[in-house]
Amino acid sequence: MPQTINVLFLAAEADPFIKVGGLGDVAGSLPLALRALSDDELKVDVRLVLPYHPAVRAENLKPLGIFSIPRGESEVQFEAFETNVNGLPVYLINGDPIRVSGSVYSLDSKLDAEKYAFFSLAANELPKHLNWQADILHANDWHTALSLYVALSKRWEENARHVAGVITVHNLPFMGPDVSEILQSYGIKLAQTDLPDWARVLPLPLGLWASDAIVAVSPTYGNEILEPEFGCGLDEFLKTRRETLSGILNGIDVDSFNPLEDRALGVNFGATSLEKRAINKKLLQEKLGLAQEAEIPLLALISRMDVQKGIDLAFTALKSMKKLNFQAVILGAGDPKLEEAAVHLQNLFSDKIKAVTRYDAGLARQIYAGADILLMPSRYEPCGLAQMIAMRYGCVPVVRKVGGLNDTVKPNETGFTFEKAHAMSLTAAIKTALKTYADREKWRALQIAGMSQNFAWLNSAKEYLALYQSLVKK
Ligand code: GLC
Repeated sequence: MPQTINVLFLAAEADPFIKVGGLGDVAGSLPLALRALSDDELKVDVRLVLPYHPAVRAENLKPLGIFSIPRGESEVQFEAFETNVNGLPVYLINGDPIRVSGSVYSLDSKLDAEKYAFFSLAANELPKHLNWQADILHANDWHTALSLYVALSKRWEENARHVAGVITVHNLPFMGPDVSEILQSYGIKLAQTDLPDWARVLPLPLGLWASDAIVAVSPTYGNEILEPEFGCGLDEFLKTRRETLSGILNGIDVDSFNPLEDRALGVNFGATSLEKRAINKKLLQEKLGLAQEAEIPLLALISRMDVQKGIDLAFTALKSMKKLNFQAVILGAGDPKLEEAAVHLQNLFSDKIKAVTRYDAGLARQIYAGADILLMPSRYEPCGLAQMIAMRYGCVPVVRKVGGLNDTVKPNETGFTFEKAHAMSLTAAIKTALKTYADREKWRALQIAGMSQNFAWLNSAKEYLALYQSLVKK
């Protein structure tokens, strides 16, 4: 009989059920990559649990039953379903707070607080009804962080068994709304923590506090959050948890993001058939209504429209490059002001800049495969996925040296980096990239070096498994 490690992996979103951002990619890939590490000696029984948001797409759902959690004098019901993706058991939890809120992330923080507190509590109860016990609870971001806090307080109040808690931090500034009243209504006490006062009532800090291990989504981000610039007021607290804090770089789905097989592309290509890439550039220029010139450098920005991503810096930089010969495409949706600014930029440079202000996964792939340079001037970037996908598709990234960008892009070898979150620093880096682009041999070498990087989830999964094993041993 092999030994087993049982892991309940909690997330607000996961591909292919529902995806809003990078968390959805991670939660869609990592649990499967972990299960694939099972062998004759060790069974890695990871199971995923998600809220059954109204927009979730799921097939072959098996109802598991209707269960309840006490709340004050009465109780709240949750309904659980089971399904499966490629051998991974997936549980979906439904209930009034999830139905009422509707979207994955609501603009109404009260609705989100109710939804995710409810989900975290229900997910904690779930194993009881499954004839299965978790050794590890693995939470992600603020939405599911309370599950660790609740598990810890149950252990104290009810002498429940020790389940080790891991929390992955994908985006520290998002800590969730004040949940003190909600917790109280569920009969969960607010503990005397060593968190700063303001943080004692917020889900993410409570989850960090209750965790046995904290994982940042890249080694650099793991260090950055210990400093005031990126620590969001928790840097001093996190320093006291240094021993349990680590950074594990995310991977990308290398089967899905494979230029040799990607069906969204006009022509497939690889490192040994890089010349075919030019056809994708031509098709892209045609689709966007740009001049179909092979030699002109085509810059791209593929991103959520968010100040985090430094979109405004990119716009200022592009504006300052009026006299240079380039084309650019901006793809993404989000902050209406940034979307407007993108359209404004297109109007200013109608012959060379195109803005597509929506989320379009297929077009994104065509841009990775056809554009020459990807801009990622993030103010902070816990990991970042676009730069890894771009490199795999021979699109050379120009990135700010922060977080996961620093861990994935090698300056002048696989891309270009700059230090300061200023448009001028970005402009200088773009100019260096353009100069290199003019040297065909050098450029090809950069592309091939980027395409040869190994960003498979396997590497990350091995690190997570080692962490799980060290926690189970304790
Ligand atoms: C968040 C971060 C991003 C990271 C992703 C997945 O969206 O902003 O940097 O890649 O989570 O961990």
